Amino acid sequence: MTQGRTRIVSICGSLRAGSVNAAVLAAAARLAGPDVEMSPYCGLDALPHFNPDRDHDAPPPGVRDLREDLARADAILFSTPEYAGSLPGSFKNLLDWTIGASSLYRRPVGWINPSAHGGARDAFHALRLVLDKAGANVVEAACADVPVGRDALDADGEIRNEALLRKISAVTSALARAAT
Ligand SMILES: Cc1cc2nc3c(=O)[nH]c(=O)nc-3n(C[C@H](O)[C@H](O)[C@H](O)COP(=O)(O)O)c2cc1C
Repeated sequence: MTQGRTRIVSICGSLRAGSVNAAVLAAAARLAGPDVEMSPYCGLDALPHFNPDRDHDAPPPGVRDLREDLARADAILFSTPEYAGSLPGSFKNLLDWTIGASSLYRRPVGWINPSAHGGARDAFHALRLVLDKAGANVVEAACADVPVGRDALDADGEIRNEALLRKISAVTSALARAAT
């Protein structure tokens, strides 16, 4: 906790410009109350491929930054697309880098699945398997399907629909509560 504020690191599994998942996490940050600091993790694209030979006390700089960012988090919020029936490779790569350092061990974690039409079930099943292996504290009240169609994003790529925003906000609040 930083100056009495709960620090939630958000991690988006998509690298795509105009990502729906990124828009969901940006909305969560906009809606966070004064007691919550939402900090987006921005290093996914630059992470090296996971290699156990490089997973030691002096890991590559991007990995060190990731681990430091997570170490300073009170909770972690994920949002990810599904690619070919599983997690995006780049996002799974990030998760692999968290295992050796126990970065997620006992950490409160939640997620938002914004896929429309009941999509991404297998990706979130895979995410749960990884988080269980990592020993994370999966906060059930902070794990939600919030289907967001591409047409729900305005010209600035922001979500304005009040019902969607309420659901996103409820996830962040539940995660923050679990982290305090
Ligand atoms: C190569 C590729 C594979 C995909 N595979 C799946 C899939 O297996 N299941 C699914 O529900 N969506 C699949 N999708 C759709 C994406 O999950 C969807 O476009 C999502 O909105 C992308 O998230 P983003 O907007 O945050 O980038 C796939 C998209 C791409 C580009």
